[in-house]
Formats: sequence, C-alpha cells, structure tokens
Amino acid sequence: MSEVVRKPTEFRRACEDARAVQRRVGLVPTMGALHEGHFSLIDEARSRADFIALTIFVNPLQFAPGEDLACYPRTFESDLAGCRERGVDLVFAPEPNAMYPPGFQTEVSVKELGKPLEGGFRTSHFDGVTTVVTKLFNLTGPCTAMFGRKDYQQWKILSRMALDLHMPIELVGCPIIREADGLALSSRNRYLSPSERERALGIVSGLRHAYDAWAHGERDPNTLRSLAEEVIRPTFDRLDYVAAADPETLAPSPPSPSRLLIAVAAHLGSTRLIDNLVLGEDPRP
Ligand SMILES: Nc1ncnc2c1ncn2[C@@H]1O[C@H](COP(=O)(O)OP(=O)(O)OP(=O)(O)O)[C@@H](O)[C@H]1O
Ligand SMILES: [Mg+2]
Repeated sequence: MSEVVRKPTEFRRACEDARAVQRRVGLVPTMGALHEGHFSLIDEARSRADFIALTIFVNPLQFAPGEDLACYPRTFESDLAGCRERGVDLVFAPEPNAMYPPGFQTEVSVKELGKPLEGGFRTSHFDGVTTVVTKLFNLTGPCTAMFGRKDYQQWKILSRMALDLHMPIELVGCPIIREADGLALSSRNRYLSPSERERALGIVSGLRHAYDAWAHGERDPNTLRSLAEEVIRPTFDRLDYVAAADPETLAPSPPSPSRLLIAVAAHLGSTRLIDNLVLGEDPRP
C-alpha cells in the first residue's frame, strides 16, 4: 500500500522514519502521468533500495511561459494505482504553494552543462529542474535516486550538481524504455494525433541510421549527426536540434570518439519530443 503525503514536512519525516529502521530510501522523482518508463525507474529503485518514495510534482519553475504547464497531463488516481501495483511505499504529491510559498527566491544552477542542447531552446528549464530536485533531495535525505536517460542532459546536470554540492545522494541513470516500434515513452506522447504518432517514429529511424553507420565503422561526429538528421527532418514540423556531442561534457565531440551522444529535439504540431542514443554504448534502439 502506498502512503500518500502532501506536506514537505510529512515527506521528510516518512523518509527519516524509514532510515531509522535501516531501510535504504530509493527516490523516483516524476511529474506524474506515469508510464512504463517511470515504472522501470521504480523497478530499478526496488533492486537498489528497500523503501521506495515516488514524487509527483508538475514543477512550474521548469516550464517557460507559453509551454504546456496548464495542460500537462494530470492522472493522479491511475498514477496511484500504478504505484501500488509496483510496490511504491510512499507517494509525495505536494501542491505548488507548499513547494514555492510566497517569498521564494532561491535557485540552484549548473553552469556549463546546462548551456548546450536543450539549454539553447529552453533557457530557464534546467534551473527549474535543479532547484526542485535540490528541494526534493533535501527533503528525502540520503538516498539512491533514479533518473531516466531519455532526459540525458538532465541526468548529467543532476549528477554534476550532487557531486559539486556534496549531496548525500547516489544518482542512477536508467535506460530509455521504448514502445515496441521504438518510440521513447513520454508523458507528452499522449498529445500526439494518430498521424503524428506515426511520424514520431522518424526520430528512432534517424537514431537507427546513425547506429548502423557507427556499427559499420563510421566515426566522424558530423557525418553521424547528418545521417540522423536527414531521416528525422522530413517527418517533423520543426527541428530544434539533432546534435552530436561528447557524452560526458555535452560539448562538441572530438574527432573519432569512442562514444558519441546523438541527441534530438523536434516538434510535431504543438508537441515537442526528445530522444537520444549513445553510440558505442547503447544497444540499437
Ligand atoms: N521512456 C523513458 N525511459 C526511461 N525513463 C524515462 C522515460 N520517460 C521518462 N523517464 C524518466 O522519468 C523521470 C520523470 O520524468 P517525467 O515525469 O518528466 O516523464 P516524461 O515522460 O519525461 O514526461 P515529459 O516527456 O512530459 O517530460 C525522469 O527521470 C525521466 O527521464
Ligand atoms: Mg520529462
């Protein structure tokens, strides 16, 4: 049975109580509208910890004006059912006012890693993420925290933040869960019309194109990037980027890398999708 708490102080107390009886806390931060990607994080948490806390909070600070904050899918009852089924012990679902009371004015920012890729298009997004995750880490206390590599840059930024600020958190980056046809699961996929859902496969086709070239020995970052882009561009209404980057620094890759991040952000109508692949590491998507 998953207990639900709304107040930050209640959440902190429940995590403290778990640690007091020698349970390792596994934290799964989410914005709700749970899917198999989230459930895989819960499963990973269960394998590493024995008290599983999942947070559901659509964080206003990480949405820019004009983004989809107001219409972001909110499916609390079915999320709760999923949490119960998957063995979540504690669900923390605060109200925005509890997280950002009047007078709130502190932000946490990771400088360089936040600039490329998503940073060029969602300028204040990562400061919103690092700030809310700092708050969640502070409330949870020492724990193992799961993040999906679908949000590859987010995972790298949060890992850097935890290291830089001596946070007592072990961060785990979990593999991308995909639909049978390869589309990366995302809460935002439910915005897609049937024809957009079909066209969304352009991303995974592009990533596969780069993967296959890599498997045949291609190592030039810009060639690999272009191969992905030429498949992706025609099926999308708009591309923010198809980028090739160093998987650790996220800066432009040196020539002939041993691993290469290919990261994509693209629009179908009003829906923005992201995906990525680390060549030389990830399996064929
Ligand atoms: N397909 C996926 N595979 C693995 N992890 C995922 C996947 N989708 C989301 N996650 C992870 O779940 C956590 C919570 O993400 P979030 O609640 O924003 O879900 P989301 O599907 O990314 O939603 P949206 O696309 O609307 O942002 C993040 O660590 C994210 O990386
Ligand atoms: Mg997300």
